[in-house]
Amino acid sequence: MWHGRFKADTAKTVQAFTQSLDIDWRMYEADIQGSVAHAKMLGKTGIIPPAEADKIISGLMAVLGEIQAGKFTPSESLEDVHMNIEARLTEIEPLGAKLHTARSRNDQVATTTRIYLRTRLNALRENLRELLRVLVSNAERHTDIIIPGYTHMQQAQPISLGHYWLAWFEAFNRDKSRLNFALDALDECPLGAGALAGSTLPVDRMMTSELLGFSQPTRNSLDTVANRDYMTDYHYFASVFMIHVSRLCNDLITWNSQEFGFIVLPDEFCTGSSMMPQKKNPDVLELARGKTGQIIGHMLDLLVNLKGLPMTYNRDLQEDKRGLWESLDTVEAVMKILAELLSRVEADEKLALAGLEKGYSLATDVAEYLVMKGVPFHEAHMKAGRLVGWCVERGIAFSDLTLEQWQEHIPEVDSAMMGILSARESVRRRNTYGGTGFEQVRNQIEEAKSRL
Ligand code: ARG
Repeated sequence: MWHGRFKADTAKTVQAFTQSLDIDWRMYEADIQGSVAHAKMLGKTGIIPPAEADKIISGLMAVLGEIQAGKFTPSESLEDVHMNIEARLTEIEPLGAKLHTARSRNDQVATTTRIYLRTRLNALRENLRELLRVLVSNAERHTDIIIPGYTHMQQAQPISLGHYWLAWFEAFNRDKSRLNFALDALDECPLGAGALAGSTLPVDRMMTSELLGFSQPTRNSLDTVANRDYMTDYHYFASVFMIHVSRLCNDLITWNSQEFGFIVLPDEFCTGSSMMPQKKNPDVLELARGKTGQIIGHMLDLLVNLKGLPMTYNRDLQEDKRGLWESLDTVEAVMKILAELLSRVEADEKLALAGLEKGYSLATDVAEYLVMKGVPFHEAHMKAGRLVGWCVERGIAFSDLTLEQWQEHIPEVDSAMMGILSARESVRRRNTYGGTGFEQVRNQIEEAKSRL
């Protein structure tokens, strides 16, 4: 491609070191799409005769056909997907030598990558939507199931399991906004920026942008070939998404343990032990949690690469895609398997409630009941707290206390309070907007559905 200036061929070792074919070959279809649009524009503007543009486009279609039929083996000596396709095109159709008019691989690689990434992000959006759907349907299945809610990993207050699933709906829904942001960030067409400064030839950048489905051409040619923000935006989405996944998986791993036992995982999503016959391990959840570090690592990889790069294109940028692909593949796989697994998680309310019965998670309910009787909250908190301490010393639960015993410690207690001292009443009565009350959860489900 650049032999005019050189006396010697690039060394084989250098070819192997500098090639990006192993990474960018998967974008061949996007690359051809970009080239077709470019050729159409060259013909339309008269930069090359329209009939020649048509021949180039037919040639490009022939190359695509060869690739799809598995008849085209690209060569490392041609560095990347772009030069491999163009070289083959020119073999088939000598007019292919005109295709690179007013184009550099710098705007070409940016265009190709944006097209490819757009397809992948749109697919992720569908997968994420499915995950959100599953969470809503789990919330419906489990609205009336009560589990302990935790802060500091200590039993805090009883909650509806449906409410728990909806908490993840909120988190993943924010991830959807971040994904949409990344999609918006790539929605400008780099083609026509050239190597860095545009072209002396009268290219029509509006035309190529429109042909390739972008909202508009990029506004500054220097920024166009230097910019990888649309990738960092994706990586940020992916990292936060995986942190959510990891925290969710961690809960489910805990709840699946013998000590908790609130949930039952489908057999098909667990593995056994080669030594211990009793084991049913939550490997899928552990692996999803375990992949989180890689995803954050890929973001750091690119950020560190970009730091300190001078305006504009630098070859360092060729390293932008390796981690991106790994991240996209992993995030997509995690979304799919998680949605499948979650849709089949069952709850064991008996065990969840058994865990609650021994604790004092109704202490806040007692304090709030006293508040309704006119006791200042701090005093109510103190009274309920003292009684908890008294019970803990004797190894008894609230449910073991008679009304008389209650009244000995807290004279304001009356028989009506005994009626609210159950986990179910506790959840039912937390009927504030966004709270865990069954009625609220049902409202939240309806709201979530309308947002889907
Ligand atoms: N293989 C290169 C890449 O993927 C293509 C761009 C090369 N541009 C250059 N000025 N050498 O980034």
